[in-house]
Amino acid sequence: MRTSCLQCRRSARHTQRALYYLHSTELAEGIIMGSARGLAEGTAMTERLRLDELDRERLTARDKGIPSRAVGMTAAEFLATDPRLSEFWSPLVVLDDAAIAHNLTAMSGWCRDRGLELMPHGKTTMAPALWQRQLDAGCLGITLATMGQVRTARSLGLGTIMLANAVVDPRALSYLAGELADPGLRFTCWADSIACIEAMEDVLSTHGAPRPVDVCVELGAPGGRTGARTVDEAVLVAERVASSPVLRLAGVAGYEGSLAHDRSEPSLRVVREYLTRQTELHERIRHLYDDGDVYVTAGGSAYFDIVADVYRTAGAGEPARPGTGRTRFTLRSGAYIVHDDGFYRQVSPFDGARHSEDSPTLHAAMHGVARVVSHPEPGLALLDGGKRDFPYDEGLPIPLRVAPELGGPWTSLRASVDAMNDQHCYLRLGEADAAAGAAPVGSVVALGLSHPCTAFDKWRMLPVVESAGSDRVVDIVRTWF
Ligand SMILES: Cc1ncc(COP(=O)(O)O)c(C=O)c1O
Repeated sequence: MRTSCLQCRRSARHTQRALYYLHSTELAEGIIMGSARGLAEGTAMTERLRLDELDRERLTARDKGIPSRAVGMTAAEFLATDPRLSEFWSPLVVLDDAAIAHNLTAMSGWCRDRGLELMPHGKTTMAPALWQRQLDAGCLGITLATMGQVRTARSLGLGTIMLANAVVDPRALSYLAGELADPGLRFTCWADSIACIEAMEDVLSTHGAPRPVDVCVELGAPGGRTGARTVDEAVLVAERVASSPVLRLAGVAGYEGSLAHDRSEPSLRVVREYLTRQTELHERIRHLYDDGDVYVTAGGSAYFDIVADVYRTAGAGEPARPGTGRTRFTLRSGAYIVHDDGFYRQVSPFDGARHSEDSPTLHAAMHGVARVVSHPEPGLALLDGGKRDFPYDEGLPIPLRVAPELGGPWTSLRASVDAMNDQHCYLRLGEADAAAGAAPVGSVVALGLSHPCTAFDKWRMLPVVESAGSDRVVDIVRTWF
């Protein structure tokens, strides 16, 4: 590989950067081996986070919903007592172990069959125990959104990280320069402008970073979020990265999820056109790559079917071209791990309604539970959970079932939530259910939720039940937002 780099007849500086990269890749692969090879090749050995540190933390009376008898125990000690959901206090967001396992297997298998890597977005859950399950399912690494999240993940030993963002904060850059001394770190971030590259160069050259930082050029689209607006602009950014002594051009990146919000024909067309331009950018800057691996990356949980389709025509799953590194066509879906009953239900290519022979079905693996505290008017019930507890930015909670207690037994409920306050949901009962006295004061309502990201961030600790409707708690998942 080194010989072919020298043969590429580019500048000595280019060669030196490529050697740095290859060296770090070899070392990293020695440490995390199979995981660095990811889904597309099958996984021999998986990255392991230092979760035992978290396991030693004790549950406290400040953890929302925790049973009183659990206070002072570690999660492991509490779980050893075979706890029941009916011991917890309402309101809660509850995860479903069987559904999570199903979603992990479904998504990883689907990606593997298409020669795609998966670096799931870790900001969805900020739950290292769930990141570990994603790595165990063969994911190449974890995507993160901020350098603060990167530091959290590094504190637990995560080695393969895609920061789906630019880094221009001088303090974060000097932290990154220090972290690069660890040969086990495979870190990639994005840049969409020369200004961004100059901000990186300033700090990285001052700090004498031990090796170049891998940077993907981010392509955006008019009306979208970050990302160069045209392929021509993005090519200029790529040229600037490729000529930098402290950066390495590591591919192309972008996020189609900020360009559309539904599966209408115009939305799907915008997404496809954007992704096609991204693969055109990859072709146009190919000559600037060294012979290390590069990424072509897009894909949230709404349009990954289209990403797979466009990437297939761009060569996903094909062997590397002679004399070049591998192109890792990489999805970054995050919400798929728990799916939902709202936004993703409407838009995911894997929801039951759009299910085809070629695609698995995801299961909603998170639900809210809240207790009825008042029936002040006929047909209106107030629940003890609100905006502090359940997401509301992509649609209000959807009442599904009612039970006398948190652990069931559940019966179906025809009702809707039409408003929320900080600590209350307004539950409107259907006529028949209102007449039958459904959901009396003290009963518990199970709520379908919309938008995993804003469900997890309201909870530092989430109980995990064995399977849908089960009373048996098999895990406690902690989050760090
Ligand atoms: C840049 C980027 N990539 C990937 C994702 C993951 O998308 P999703 O939440 O639909 O899984 C997000 C989500 O906001 C994102 O901003």
